[in-house]
Amino acid sequence: MGGNPLPLSENDLHALHERALAWYGERKRDLPWRKTSDPYAILVSEVMLQQTQVERVIPKYHEFLALFPSFEALASAPVSDVIRAWATLGYNQRAVRLHGIAQQVVGEHGGRLPPDENALLKLKGFGPYTAAALACFAFGRQTAVVDTNVRRVLGRVLLGETGPSPSAMQRLAQDALPAGKASEWAQALMDIGATLCSIRRPRCEACPAQAWCRWANAGLVEGEAQSPVASRLSDQRAVYSVQPPFKGSSRYYRGRIVEALRQAGEEGKLAAEIGSAVRDGFTEADAPWLDGLLAGLERDGLLRRDGLRVRLP
Ligand code: ADE
Repeated sequence: MGGNPLPLSENDLHALHERALAWYGERKRDLPWRKTSDPYAILVSEVMLQQTQVERVIPKYHEFLALFPSFEALASAPVSDVIRAWATLGYNQRAVRLHGIAQQVVGEHGGRLPPDENALLKLKGFGPYTAAALACFAFGRQTAVVDTNVRRVLGRVLLGETGPSPSAMQRLAQDALPAGKASEWAQALMDIGATLCSIRRPRCEACPAQAWCRWANAGLVEGEAQSPVASRLSDQRAVYSVQPPFKGSSRYYRGRIVEALRQAGEEGKLAAEIGSAVRDGFTEADAPWLDGLLAGLERDGLLRRDGLRVRLP
């Protein structure tokens, strides 16, 4: 307990847990990473889900695990193969990050993830969310897993309006865990967030948390468009945006460059060919712009330059 009194009585919190967990038992989404206890597979799913929607992750999750079924398989694959396998998911740096994690796990931890949240956090490539998700979903630790959906659902149910700071929300979520059921609870909150408690059109009448939800019961749903809550909550969502990069942004061109290199095969491409492939009307005058993007991608481990030739790393 972090000096963070819960806004619900023990009894109400217990009743909320029971209802939400029963709802989850009956209605949970059939997601492939919920049928495995393999920490490696769960890590792959969590890294993919961080910036890509569930429907798009499912087929790639199966494909990726067929290509790289274990930490050992991933660690020994060339990172270029991993970047190729990441095609269509976007945010390609995640492929490099996952590969780096696999190499550390194999090189420094005997091929197994440490089960402890603090030890997980020490691995390069793990942030607080990934460490909590793995500790909870793969190792059964009683730790709160707070992603964007969970933050919105718990914020609405327990607080009724403000989205507190991430650290305050983490403490609140920790204090609100049902004993021994952290994993089912987190997944229940994720499903409520994904299927009922949407940002703009929540379906409170179908929600197992409705009876206890401050936000639903304060009549805030109707007026959400004007509510400061709504705008604050949707601002938070932007941090985890799953929008495609807007055309013309650096991220858009970075994605196109990596895609051009995926299609180029081992020999790669000349920088000028990449320029023409990714940008209509590319000319010599655009070379410094392209060079800046290539240098950034090289720093991030997504390509390798060898004179004028550019390849996947
Ligand atoms: N998003 C992140 N982790 C998830 C999970 N385990 N199930 C559904 N959505 C998720």
